Amino acid sequence: MFRRSCPAPGTVRSSLRARIVAGALRPVGRYLSGQAARPHGVVGYGLSRIWIRETAAVNDVAVALLAPEAGERVAEIGFGPGRTLARIAAAGAEVVGVEVSEAMISSFARSHAELLAAGRVHLHRGDGTTIPASDGSLDAALAVHTLYFWPDPAATVTDIARALRADGRLVLAFRAGEHPTPARFDPDIYHLPTTTEVTQWLTDAGFKDVQIQNHADISHAVAWAIGFKR
Ligand SMILES: C[S@@+](CC[C@H](N)C(=O)[O-])C[C@H]1O[C@@H](n2cnc3c(N)ncnc32)[C@H](O)[C@@H]1O
Repeated sequence: MFRRSCPAPGTVRSSLRARIVAGALRPVGRYLSGQAARPHGVVGYGLSRIWIRETAAVNDVAVALLAPEAGERVAEIGFGPGRTLARIAAAGAEVVGVEVSEAMISSFARSHAELLAAGRVHLHRGDGTTIPASDGSLDAALAVHTLYFWPDPAATVTDIARALRADGRLVLAFRAGEHPTPARFDPDIYHLPTTTEVTQWLTDAGFKDVQIQNHADISHAVAWAIGFKR
């Protein structure tokens, strides 16, 4: 019987077309990934408005796990549009927001001037390698969909541990690297760690009882890591 030793012409054409389309879209993916890592300009602002809805469920689980209480001091690293920052402040906690994007800082400062004026939210520009809080001065910290962009995530987790009080807690929500990376994420910009790597960072930083949670109803690829410093 005749056996085809090479792909059918139609298959070659469609795989060539897929490669051309993927190649043409790569610069778009790179641009949008760069915006996710450090939103700027009109596009960055527009994307941050989209994230409010897109990441709401992941942020809501992170806040529920963190369970901020009135009177506590909480840090959020990479707050982006600041929906979670404002929610934690609304719970009565004092919030320290750390952002690498000047655009996100000024946008939040404009829309929530009253929280800043009342001293309920403090904003700092930085890359999170050093948390702007003295030793043991925070009750809790969280970061959602941002650790992919940190220059040295293990160092950031270690510095968060330094800034947390003796029984403080940390919640990190992230897309886990054991799942396929979406094509729109530029791998030179998005560094997706596995849950094993994140667990190791927390354990090395002295967190106890590190747990990983999944909520398949929200996303099978997102993980929430929770660590307690006690
Ligand atoms: C994809 S957005 C997520 C924003 C928000 N946490 C959310 O869940 O919608 C990532 C945010 O992390 C910020 N970011 C990236 N690297 C950072 C770093 N090293 N330190 C602080 N913020 C950082 C970006 O500027 C951006 O606002």
